[in-house]
Amino acid sequence: MATKRLGVGMIGGGFVGKFHIRSWVAVRDADILGVVSRPDDNTAEEAVALIRQLGVGQAKVYESVADMIADPAIHALWICAPNFVRIEIMEEIADAIEGGKGELIGVACEKPLGRNAAEARRMLELVEKVGLLDGYLENQLFAPAIVRGKELLWSRGAALTGPPYLARAAEEHSGPHMPWFWQGELQGGGVLNDMMCHSVEVARFLLTAPGAARDTLTPVKVSAHTSCLKWQQPHYADRLAANSGGKTDYRKRPAEDFARALVEYRDSDGNERVVEATTSWCFVGAGLRLSMEMLGPEYSLSVNTLDAGPKVFFSREVKGDAGEDIVEKQNAEMGLMPVVSDEGAEYGYIGEDRHMVQSFLAGTRPSENFSDGVAVTELLMTAYMSADQEKTIPFPPPDLATFVPAVAKGEWRP
Ligand SMILES: NC(=O)c1ccc[n+]([C@@H]2O[C@H](COP(=O)([O-])OP(=O)(O)OC[C@H]3O[C@@H](n4cnc5c(N)ncnc54)[C@H](O)[C@@H]3O)[C@@H](O)[C@H]2O)c1
Repeated sequence: MATKRLGVGMIGGGFVGKFHIRSWVAVRDADILGVVSRPDDNTAEEAVALIRQLGVGQAKVYESVADMIADPAIHALWICAPNFVRIEIMEEIADAIEGGKGELIGVACEKPLGRNAAEARRMLELVEKVGLLDGYLENQLFAPAIVRGKELLWSRGAALTGPPYLARAAEEHSGPHMPWFWQGELQGGGVLNDMMCHSVEVARFLLTAPGAARDTLTPVKVSAHTSCLKWQQPHYADRLAANSGGKTDYRKRPAEDFARALVEYRDSDGNERVVEATTSWCFVGAGLRLSMEMLGPEYSLSVNTLDAGPKVFFSREVKGDAGEDIVEKQNAEMGLMPVVSDEGAEYGYIGEDRHMVQSFLAGTRPSENFSDGVAVTELLMTAYMSADQEKTIPFPPPDLATFVPAVAKGEWRP
């Protein structure tokens, strides 16, 4: 491209949009120049104020996605809006490009790529149709602990004693911040869809040799279990209802708040490789806990984001406001608390945003792209099938392309 700087437009300036904005202080060669959000909240204005305060772009609020695309200063879009508007946003992008608007090179989209395999495939079809470069925003693959841990285990342990055979990943917290995440129809599922997209992908990434394509590992079987352990208890169901003006009804339409899955892969020599993923919205600890492990014949890696290093202590006399200033999804403000000093860096947002920017500027497809987003969604849908049928499902199951989990139809009755 003619310019050496990328102008970025953000669609959605909510929770994760602001994570990207805060991370941008460490991203070079790109400025955030615009934000589009829903007209009935003030997240676009808040995001623009944060962008300007941090000096990461002379951003302004645009009225619509099409208006933002029409501005030739915008070269790439970051889709950070909720799951239930993915397709309409991507269709608006494709229509604008087909109508000859703008100078877009690429689009990066937050996880999950779609609420089911059909939606994820549609996202991929649309970027291919209009010739955009595509990035799938899976931050955990870019977390320094994962990047460095993978590099060391493969270069020292695997090179001398053989490749790793088991990777475990867990993502756990006490529940999402916005009501739409809790509603199966809007979000696409419960915690399995919301958070296992991270865990299955980061574990698959650890087991894949550095630089090797994802198809060097072939998924062959999936088994999974889902439960609603906490949030359909009447006291907690009532709390969800109160927080959502009655829209979230876990007495009648719960979603899973606990899920585990085992994905069995074969490598190119036919050897078994196993991914074990666990996720929950009913974990109570200091805050968000990401744990990952990789095991091989003579080596292992373990990561726990709550073993962060710094810790602070507040006595019972410190009765401040509840907040998320110590760690994401914080549960307490008193006692001994771990501090994740730079969440944008440690969770991988800086690395992922830098990679997307550099790929778009170079005109190359990001290493994590919509094809990966489709593959992740297909594994998650197979996990839902397994949990529903209480059996192991050979991959790929025949009805994958059209499958919609019962929880996404408001029909799951655990
Ligand atoms: N990578 C991660 O770890 C991570 C963490 C949180 C959320 N996410 C993903 O990011 C996405 C957004 O989640 P969030 O937590 O920021 O949600 P949120 O509800 O906090 O914010 C959503 C934002 O999207 C805007 N929006 C809603 N509908 C829109 C539309 N039609 N057009 C333009 N903007 C619209 C809202 O105004 C708001 O600014 C979700 O897909 C979620 O799964 C990823």
